[in-house]
Amino acid sequence: MSLAVTDVGAGPVVVLLHAFPVNRHLWDGVADQLASAGRRVIAPDLPGFGESSLPAEDPDLAVAARAVFDVLSQREVGYYTLAGLSMGGYVAMQMLRHGSSDVPPPAALALVDTKMGADPPAVRDNRLAVADRALAEGTTEFLVDAMIEPLLSPVTRADRPQVVAQVAQWIRETRPEAVAWGQRAMARRPDSRDVLSAYDGSVLVLAGADDVISPPDEQRGLVSVLQRGELRLVPHAGHLSAVEDPAAVADALLTWPSE
Ligand code: MLT
Repeated sequence: MSLAVTDVGAGPVVVLLHAFPVNRHLWDGVADQLASAGRRVIAPDLPGFGESSLPAEDPDLAVAARAVFDVLSQREVGYYTLAGLSMGGYVAMQMLRHGSSDVPPPAALALVDTKMGADPPAVRDNRLAVADRALAEGTTEFLVDAMIEPLLSPVTRADRPQVVAQVAQWIRETRPEAVAWGQRAMARRPDSRDVLSAYDGSVLVLAGADDVISPPDEQRGLVSVLQRGELRLVPHAGHLSAVEDPAAVADALLTWPSE
C-alpha cells in the first residue's frame, strides 16, 4: 500500500504521524517550522486517511506501522526521529513492537498527546459502535459534534474559530470507512508499556496542558516507565497541540533532549 506523503526540507529526518480522525495536514504548521530550522519532514497520511487509500487488510495498527516503514524504506531513510500524535503515537508504538527488516528503529521518539495503555472494555465497545455508526450513516458529521470539544482546548475554541473550522473540515473530509477501520484497529491495540520501557532512545512526552483525552497525569505515568523520558506541556493547548500551538510543538521537537 502506498501512502500520500508530505516530504519537505533537508537535513536530519523527522517523521510525523497524525491523529484520528484527521490527516497529515495536522502537522503543516510544525512541518514548516522544522523545515525552516534545517530538518527534513516526512509526514504520511496513515492508511485510509487523507489521500491514502483504505487498506485491504483487516483493521490493525500493525498494518499502518508497516506502511510507514515502507515510506521510509522507499526513501532509504536510516536515521530518524519519530513523532506521533495520539493515534500516530499508537502507530509509533507498533513500529517499535514489530520493527522492520530494512529500516532501523527510530533514533529518538516523541509521543505527543498519546497513551501507552490498551483500551478498557467500555472504550473498546464505544469504538466499535462508532465504527458501525460511521458505516451505517455513510458520513462522519456526527463526529464533528462529538469531537471538537474534547480535541481542542477551551482557549482555542473560544478565541480561534479558524482552527475550530479547520479541524471540523478535516473530520468531515475523512471517509466513514477510514473511521471504521481506524476505530477497529485502535480497539485491538495492545498495551505498549513493554516496548516503551525497553526502548533506550530519548523520548519526548509532549502534551497540551488542557488535553482531556490524554491528560497530563497520564503523561506523567507514561514518562515513569521510560528509560530516558522528558515531559513537556504546552500551555493553553488541548489534544491537538500540533495545530493549536505549532510553534511550541516545533520548538519542543527542536530543543529536546535538553540534557
Ligand atoms: C486521536 O486523537 O488520534 C484519538 O483521540 C485517538 C483515540 O481515539 O484514542
